[in-house]
Amino acid sequence: MTKIRAAITGVSGYVPNYILTNKELEKMVDTNDEWITSRTGIHERRILKEEGKASSDMGAEAVNILLNKTNTDAKDVDLIICATTTPDMFVASTACIIADKVNAKNAFAYDLMAACSGFIYALATGSKFIETNTYQKVIIVGVDMMSSIIDYQDRATCIIFGDGAGAVLLEKNTEELGLYDSILKSDGSGREFLHMKAGGSLNPATLETVKNREHYVFQDGQPVFKSAVKNMADVSEEIMKRNNLSSNDVAWLVPHQANKRIIDATARRMGVGDEKVMLNIEKYGNTTAATIPLCLWDYEERLNKGDNIILAAFGGGFTWGSIYLKWAYDSKK
Ligand code: UT7
Repeated sequence: MTKIRAAITGVSGYVPNYILTNKELEKMVDTNDEWITSRTGIHERRILKEEGKASSDMGAEAVNILLNKTNTDAKDVDLIICATTTPDMFVASTACIIADKVNAKNAFAYDLMAACSGFIYALATGSKFIETNTYQKVIIVGVDMMSSIIDYQDRATCIIFGDGAGAVLLEKNTEELGLYDSILKSDGSGREFLHMKAGGSLNPATLETVKNREHYVFQDGQPVFKSAVKNMADVSEEIMKRNNLSSNDVAWLVPHQANKRIIDATARRMGVGDEKVMLNIEKYGNTTAATIPLCLWDYEERLNKGDNIILAAFGGGFTWGSIYLKWAYDSKK
């Protein structure tokens, strides 16, 4: 029997208009453009400033673009999985809100939280519904409005993160294209180095938690950096080995965009040259669950049917992993 694979059949993205530059950050915290550029590779990031707008608005924009470009009727979407760390609210889920905003009346929808690895966790999860022929059209959205949980007095975090959304449509493929393999990992002991202290069931919001600025992301950069370099490179190398892929076979590496130095280390370990590495960290910074679909969106026109692509991510939790897929369509205009 022909194997059913889950293939990405369309990709889209959305970023807000407002650009927060390194120069502007120099006026907010004790930092400078040279430090940010050399340590992270980031020049600017997008920030959602409009009153009353949230993650679901960026997610819905991305999904609407996706539906349009793939000629998909919203009524035909079976499932929307939204990977996010910055939901509009704890109840209801952002996926349900996005489904409502795009009129996906027949879809069931849920959120998945795995921080910066959220998109690849969600992609691996959503693909199972296609591979088992349970559903026909699954949308994976990666969206984060990091500006809603960033302390713009903390130079250790505010220089890194930005806002954005990306989405892909998954459909079945019987021509050996689509997702081939995934390696997903986590280690909860890493939460010590990257977390948000208050606002959850452990430390619900009080006047005190607000006063102590505990509703913002805390990151101890160095240990996160070290784990990211090791683990992202490890899983990327492992997925190549177990699928018998040499560096020549890999057309593209799509790394989570947290730090240019982490990306370079992963590419080096895979033996993949810079020309094969998708990069947009300089203009968007770290958009958490949105980095990987935003890269695919930016590079879509350069992708060819049959290209071997490795996705790799590392983030809070800790969570990390890699996915190997064969691109399913020629995107060249
Ligand atoms: O996506 C989720 C996962 N997150 C990541 O993967 C992020 C991983 N971590 C990193 O990318 C890096 O650790 C950072 C970019 C966060 C920091 O870079 P670093 O090279 O690890 O710097 P550091 O924290 O070791 O700090 C080096 C120096 C320190 O000064 P001293 O002690 O050497 O005098 C810091 O106080 O740089 C100072 N520093 C800054 N200086 C200017 C820290 N932040 C800044 C800043 N501007 N924004």
